[in-house]
Amino acid sequence: MSFPKDFLWGGAVAANQCEGAFLEDGKQLSVPDMLLGGDVNTPRTFLPAIDDTAFYPSHEAIDFYHHYKEDIALFAEMGFNVFRLSINWGRIFPNGDDEEPNEAGLAFYEAVFDECAKYGITPLVTLCHYEIPWNIVTKYGGFSNRKTIDLFVKYARTVFERYKDKVKYWLTFNEINIACMAGHSALGALYGLGVMEEEDINSTDRIPLSELKGNQQRIFEALHNEFVASALTVKMGHEINPDFVIGNMIAHSTLYPLTPNPDDIMACLKQDQIANDFCGDVQVRGEYPSYIFRYFKENGIDPSFITEEDKVILKEGTVDLYTFSYYQTNCVTVDPDAEKTAGNLSAGVKNPYLKASDWGWQIDPEGLRYTLNILHDRYPQTPLMIVENGFGAFDTVEEDGSIHDQYRIDYFRPHIKAMNEALEDGVPLIGYTTWGPIDLVSAGTGQYAKRYGFIYVDRHDDGTGDFSRSKKDSFYWYKKVIESNGEDID
Ligand code: BG6
Repeated sequence: MSFPKDFLWGGAVAANQCEGAFLEDGKQLSVPDMLLGGDVNTPRTFLPAIDDTAFYPSHEAIDFYHHYKEDIALFAEMGFNVFRLSINWGRIFPNGDDEEPNEAGLAFYEAVFDECAKYGITPLVTLCHYEIPWNIVTKYGGFSNRKTIDLFVKYARTVFERYKDKVKYWLTFNEINIACMAGHSALGALYGLGVMEEEDINSTDRIPLSELKGNQQRIFEALHNEFVASALTVKMGHEINPDFVIGNMIAHSTLYPLTPNPDDIMACLKQDQIANDFCGDVQVRGEYPSYIFRYFKENGIDPSFITEEDKVILKEGTVDLYTFSYYQTNCVTVDPDAEKTAGNLSAGVKNPYLKASDWGWQIDPEGLRYTLNILHDRYPQTPLMIVENGFGAFDTVEEDGSIHDQYRIDYFRPHIKAMNEALEDGVPLIGYTTWGPIDLVSAGTGQYAKRYGFIYVDRHDDGTGDFSRSKKDSFYWYKKVIESNGEDID
């Protein structure tokens, strides 16, 4: 095995999916707090007027807010040297536009970082993992308003200054490309950009996420504003502490043409450019790629929102590190009758050579080696990091409390092997954080039942459970992998 000595091994979570305490210590509502649960066949619904009788999974999540010491101790026991988490923007600026930051929120994350430091765990902090304060959505229209750039930069400055000696690794926006992914634009607009149409914001009905209205012009303008906010943040971060390493974060849903039919190849290339490449190209290269202007033209999007001043900002704020999530691959074809995968978030065209999870996510470890190679080819000067990878599955607790999740080990083992192959290929991969090292709320379905953890949490979709934590078989397996620096994966 060829993992470098200082390779970063750990796990990743997001504030809204683990913290709970949704209105505690000054925090106000943020986007995920308005979402109810769904399942593989039922999209999550959005309900803007909080209904006290409904079950909103983010409101308590797994109560990391009150369990962080116990959880970080368990991560340390597995040997983590990195822990990816997000700061919930709404804990620091509860309404997004407050004059002064909320000291209780700042103190909470300070305590979390100090707890990590006790065990020699480096935090990797995402500034925004879908956690846009709700007030920014309703009052300013999320990132479709340039004012939100200033609000975000002010928030980033506040946490950079406060934690400049405690945190070195930062990511600006989680899965910034989600609004560009086929079939997700409205969901991505709300989650990633805080953009919703007035009509939906004011609705008193539950709206399935799949039915939210999206306006392409507004979505691409908002995304542009997010690029600008990200670039300004990178530049500012380096001024505050030149040792900061600041990355982007892309949902890399790797695509293959379903057949060698040149029409499938071209359809695949075009989808890849928009869904997977566009945002990374802007954030790593510091400029809009040529192909996007053809897409804009063909889709009636007026790109005049890109100002000359913005172009300079994008060039000056390129990222130090490219990070991405990798769960699955999908196929692309022009054949409208091609078989589709199951799943309400990531339904794609079925690959006849791959098996899928119970949520229809196609399992493709070899695709990870392929992805690392194509990314290195595309961005040869930029180190890479996998900041999410994992297997959502139903777990069964045996009578004696044990959880035999061999299927999860079987998922991870070949993915780790694929990383090793990519390192052998010369890819500058610096680290790996698995998604949800502890069970948490699913972003796509809002379920607890879609479990990712090495650590089980007693919490269920009907709102029952005492939040107690226990170790699954995979806990001991991952501990061994880290201890041996990736040598022992059996
Ligand atoms: C990524 C997100 O898309 O995938 C996470 O960054 C999310 O927030 C993860 O939880 C897994 O998706 P899901 O829908 O299974 O929670």
